[in-house]
Amino acid sequence: MKRVLKWIGIVVGGLVGLLIIAAVPLHFVGKSRLNKAPEVVTRPVPVLNDAAAIARGEHLLNSVSSCRLCHGNNLGGEVFMDGEIGLFVTAPNLTAGAGGIGASYTDADWEKAIRHGVGGDGRALVIMPTNFFQHYSDSDLGALIAYLKSVPPVDNEMGQRRIGLPGSILGGVLGFDDFTNVNGIDHANVGMSAAAEAVTAEYGNYLVNIALCSECHGANLAGNVLAEGEDGPPEGPNITPGGEPGGWSEEEFITTLRTGQTPSGERLDSEEMPWPTLGQMSDLELQAIWAYLQSLPALPSNS
Ligand code: HEC
Ligand code: HEC
Repeated sequence: MKRVLKWIGIVVGGLVGLLIIAAVPLHFVGKSRLNKAPEVVTRPVPVLNDAAAIARGEHLLNSVSSCRLCHGNNLGGEVFMDGEIGLFVTAPNLTAGAGGIGASYTDADWEKAIRHGVGGDGRALVIMPTNFFQHYSDSDLGALIAYLKSVPPVDNEMGQRRIGLPGSILGGVLGFDDFTNVNGIDHANVGMSAAAEAVTAEYGNYLVNIALCSECHGANLAGNVLAEGEDGPPEGPNITPGGEPGGWSEEEFITTLRTGQTPSGERLDSEEMPWPTLGQMSDLELQAIWAYLQSLPALPSNS
């Protein structure tokens, strides 16, 4: 009996030893892939720092793209991962205050981060939803940047991103394309599909992208379902015509987003569904989103 145990002990010990030997190089591979994104073609946008552009940018940041949800109410940044799987990740301070990127970022840096998923220091950004922001049109992105450059400075130093084991391997080697977006973006064509501002399904599709609806409602908008124990965005329901909104009118949809109250009297949780900000979109914007949702097939809810 003892011998068997000892033998098992040696095998397990041997496996752990092998894993450690493999883990060290894999750790460095993952860390360097995360810290140095591949070279990408970028297309910096004209930034007009006039009042109209700043107002448009403020609207996009506050009511469409939910930047404050992750970067904090004052855009001074928030810690996102504090040691989970060996990683320290913040949604950085976007202002020009101490610890913020705003003072040193160029217009080209903003474009590279928001549409291409590459940070000012060349690292591959994680979690930041550039897979959706890649669709930002040149003019809307120019306006967003103009506004970002005008926000009040906030002093908040949180320190640099740190990549340790096992996250370096899980996020940098095995799950690189889930954890980052840089390889999934069509860099030469960012923003090219943006439609003209009008009550059309095409413009609605553009807004659904930059408003991150799919982040919480699933890629096909038929519901976001997290696996048992998985940590991820909120589980938004099916909003294609196959879900509950399929039975609503345009007016009921707009009222739901403006008030958080559905036609059946349900109150939407504002901690999960950011209706207080999304509901500030203009009539034209919400009508376009409705037109897009109505143009989708009636999908059964994801499960
Ligand atoms: C779901 C959360 C989330 C949302 C929404 C979000 N961000 Fe981020 N963002 C992050 C995280 C996390 C990082 C840092 C990633 C890293 O260090 O790898 C980041 C990084 C950035 C960077 C790169 C900063 C640097 O250090 O180089 C910029 C710029 C940025 N975000 C701007 C924005 C803007 C503008 C918006 C809205 C249009 C936005 N973000 C929305 C989570 C988010
Ligand atoms: C940060 C996550 C998140 C984002 C972004 C988000 N939603 Fe939601 N949404 C949810 C969640 C979660 C619920 C369910 C809330 C509840 O039941 O209290 C919800 C509910 C809804 C409902 C009510 C559906 C029903 O069956 O009652 C509609 C309509 C809706 N969202 C539309 C949208 C649209 C359109 C967008 C993009 C413009 C969007 N959502 C973006 C998380 C999100």
